[in-house]
Amino acid sequence: MKHVDDLFTAVADRVKPPVCVALGPPWPAANLAAAVAAPGTVCYQMDLHQAARVRDCLAEVGAEAEVVARPDLWDLDPVFQTVVFPAAAYADRELKIDIVEQAYHVLKPGGLLVSLSGYERDNQFAKWHKKIFGKCGQTPASKAGMAFWSAKADDGKRRRHEVSFHAKLADGPGMEFVSRPGTFSYGHFDNGSRAMVEVADMRPGDSVLDLGCGNGAVDCLLGGVVGPQGSVTFVDSNLRAVALAELNAATSNTPNPKFVAATRLEGLPRKGFDVIVANPPYYAKSDITQLFVRGSRELLRPGGRYYIVTKMPTAVVPMIFEVFGDCSVIENRGYSVVMAGVGLPPPLAGGVIPRVR
Ligand SMILES: C[S@@+](CC[C@H](N)C(=O)[O-])C[C@H]1O[C@@H](n2cnc3c(N)ncnc32)[C@H](O)[C@@H]1O
Repeated sequence: MKHVDDLFTAVADRVKPPVCVALGPPWPAANLAAAVAAPGTVCYQMDLHQAARVRDCLAEVGAEAEVVARPDLWDLDPVFQTVVFPAAAYADRELKIDIVEQAYHVLKPGGLLVSLSGYERDNQFAKWHKKIFGKCGQTPASKAGMAFWSAKADDGKRRRHEVSFHAKLADGPGMEFVSRPGTFSYGHFDNGSRAMVEVADMRPGDSVLDLGCGNGAVDCLLGGVVGPQGSVTFVDSNLRAVALAELNAATSNTPNPKFVAATRLEGLPRKGFDVIVANPPYYAKSDITQLFVRGSRELLRPGGRYYIVTKMPTAVVPMIFEVFGDCSVIENRGYSVVMAGVGLPPPLAGGVIPRVR
């Protein structure tokens, strides 16, 4: 969103405080709060890490705004005269629809949603606005992108955007998982996670941690293996993901679940886990992968096992060597599952890999 300031200028006279800047990358969100320059401005994010980055950017541009992180935009009170949604062109389509829907419910009657699209010629937003708000105004196509606006009439019904999917470990019970826009993985069980849980050595009674749990499917499936004597811990920086993990753990009867919302693995017990699994995001350079590898060593009990799934073993293996001293790699489903820890089981012989459906 290089031209968010130009785009905002085109609609600035429509914007009335108090304003909510809904999601958006940290710099555009902070620049918009600076351009609004009105008391009561709130920047909404669903990820604690992104929220912290927005705070840093606000400090750098010298703008005043409260940064609030919640699972849903509509968790905020309906006090806003304007919601500004800076939607990067690369942002997920389902999440854009979700934010248009949720913005309706945090506006006062008569309040305005302004969506700023990074696309030079956007033919989607007007459609989404009209579906929720009835009418939509828009700026002409331009290199800066396009702006769309709609006014709220009265209170409407909330529609939650969610998709359920089914997954199962070879010998475990089938489970149904709810997924939502803005969380991983949306609408299906991820193949990388599948590759990892198929080769991970899990034992009844194990205490398991999923680093970056997303909607919690991995931990819920592993919960079926570790059984009632075991426990599973879900950690994620995305508050919507943690809320979904809670929901999915409850419906799949996951044994002894714990939920942690954190960006630096804070709040997790040292030497607290027999097994740690991780499927890190591969954006933002290797920062999160580094965190998920380096932060794990002290969380594992002596004899504990560590599994990380990757498409880039040449980047991950040296990190694992540095932290754990040794590792082995299993190729499964086009992914590399890197295993480390004390008392490491030998790589599975004869290609016998339990399957997940
Ligand atoms: C590729 S997804 C894996 C989700 C889930 N484990 C699965 O396999 O379906 C990576 C997850 O890491 C989370 N994440 C990213 N940075 C994080 C951080 N600093 N602390 C905790 N979780 C983080 C993301 O929100 C995302 O849910």
